[in-house]
Amino acid sequence: MERTHVADIVKNEGKQIELYGWVHARRDHGKLVFIDLRDRSGLCQVVFGPEVANAADLRLEYVVHVTGDVKARPEKMVNDKLATGRYEISATKLEILNVASNIPFPVDTDGYDINEEVRLTYRYIDLRRERLKNNLILRGRITKFIRDFLIERDFLEIETPDLTKSTPEGARDYLVPSRIQKGNFYALPQSPQQYKQLLMVGGIEKYFQLARCFRDEDTRGDRQPEFTQLDIEMSFVEQEDIMRLNEELLISLVQKIAPEKKIQEIPFPRITYQEAMKKYHTDRPDMRNDKNDPNLLAFCWVIDFPFFEKTEEGGWTFTHNPFSAPKPEFMEDLLEQKNIGDILTTQYDIALNGFEVGGGSIRNHKSAALKTVLKVMGFDEERIQANFGHMIEALANGAPPHGGIAWGLDRFVMLLAGEPNIREVIAFPKTGDGRDLMMGSPTIVDKKQLDDLGIEIKKEEKKEK
Ligand code: AMO
Repeated sequence: MERTHVADIVKNEGKQIELYGWVHARRDHGKLVFIDLRDRSGLCQVVFGPEVANAADLRLEYVVHVTGDVKARPEKMVNDKLATGRYEISATKLEILNVASNIPFPVDTDGYDINEEVRLTYRYIDLRRERLKNNLILRGRITKFIRDFLIERDFLEIETPDLTKSTPEGARDYLVPSRIQKGNFYALPQSPQQYKQLLMVGGIEKYFQLARCFRDEDTRGDRQPEFTQLDIEMSFVEQEDIMRLNEELLISLVQKIAPEKKIQEIPFPRITYQEAMKKYHTDRPDMRNDKNDPNLLAFCWVIDFPFFEKTEEGGWTFTHNPFSAPKPEFMEDLLEQKNIGDILTTQYDIALNGFEVGGGSIRNHKSAALKTVLKVMGFDEERIQANFGHMIEALANGAPPHGGIAWGLDRFVMLLAGEPNIREVIAFPKTGDGRDLMMGSPTIVDKKQLDDLGIEIKKEEKKEK
C-alpha cells in the first residue's frame, strides 16, 4: 500500500491507509492509547486499541509506521484546531521505525522561550517545530518566485567560485590555506561582486545567483558569518532600470507569497542619504506609520550616498563599494580627484522596516575611473596591479556599462516571516560568536593537516578544547 500524507486523510474517509511520521503527543488511557501523529504535512489523531499491543511502548518523537482506517469523529469530538480534526485513524498495525531517547525540549510550542544554545545544539530536533518548518517553506517559496521571475525575464542563473581572492569589501575575509601553493591563501567571497562584473565583461548581460557570502565580522541578530544574497547584475542599464526591476520583483513577490502583508507606499518612496540622516539619524530608516502592525511593509530607497568618507588616519575610503561609479555629474571631479568629499555615488540601498535589505550601484566600466577610485584610497600603482590588475584589464577589454544589486535574502525572509532575527529563517545558523553548536565547529585540527598546509599555530593563540 502507498503512503498517505497526514493532511490527505480528509480525502480518504472509510479507507485503509498507511501513515509515516513522528509521535507529536501521546495520551495513554489504559485500554486506549491516543497519539497525534506528525509528518511534514500536518497532524492527525491516531487511536490504538488493546489489539495493537506495542502502542504502549510509544514515546514522544518516536518514528512510526501506522496502518489504520480513516474514520469520521462524532460531531462533538471534532477538533476545530486541527485541519484533520473531523477525522481520526483507528490503527490496526503499528511498526516502530525508531526510538527517540533524548529529546531535550518540546517541539509542539513556538520555542521562543527555550534556551537558544540548546535549540542550536539540537537544531535537527528544533526544525521539527511548526514555526521553523513554516519559515523554511516560506524561504523556499520566496526563492522559487525570484527564480521564476528573473528567468522569465531572460536572466541566467550562474554559480561563481567560493575559493577566490581576498577583496576589500569592508569586512574581514575568511581565508582558506592552499596545500598545493603553500603559503598562499584563497579567500571565501564576501560577495560575488567581481565575478558578476566579469560575467558582464563576458557578455552575459543579465545574471543572478542565490549566492552564499562569507564575512568575518561580529554577528548580530541580522548578521551571520555566512549568509545568502540574491545577487543581480545587468549590462546596458542605468540606475533607474535596476531600481524599477527590483521594485517590480519585490511588489509582485509580496503580493503572491505574502498577500496578508500591506506595502505602505507604492512606488517605494526615495530619500537621499543626507535627508535620511537628518530626519531619522540612520541610513536605513523605519518609515512605518504604524509600528504595531505586523503586516505593514515600509520599503524605501536610500540614494545619493557620498562616495568616499575619511578614514581615521585622515585618508579616504569608499562608503559602499570601490567598484561603484560616481553619479554622472561627478565623474569629472573623480577623474581630476577634485572635491572628493562631495562626490556622490550611484549607490542605492533598499531599507525595509528599519533594516537594510539590499544595495547596489552602477559600476565604473572604464578602467581609468576604477583606477582613480583606488588612487583616491591611497593605493599605489603596484598595489593596484597586485589586487585589481585583473579588473583594470577586464574593464579595458570591452566591458559594457553595467550595474546591479544584492539583497540580503535572510533579512528579507526574516521580515516576511515576522521573525526577530535571521537565525530563525536559516536552517543551520551560527551563534553570536560564530560557532555551529550542532557540528561543534570551529575546531582544532590534526597536526598532520596543518603540516600538509605548512601552518604552525602560535603557542599563545592555541585554544584548549
Ligand atoms: P552589501 O555589502 O551591502 O553589498 O550586501 C548586500 C546585502 O546583504 C545583506 N548582508 C548581510 N546579511 C546577513 N549577514 C551579514 N553579515 C550581511 N552582510 C550584508 C544586507 C545587505 O544590504 N556586492 C554588493 C552588492 C552590489 O553592489 O551589487 C554587496 O555585497 O541586507
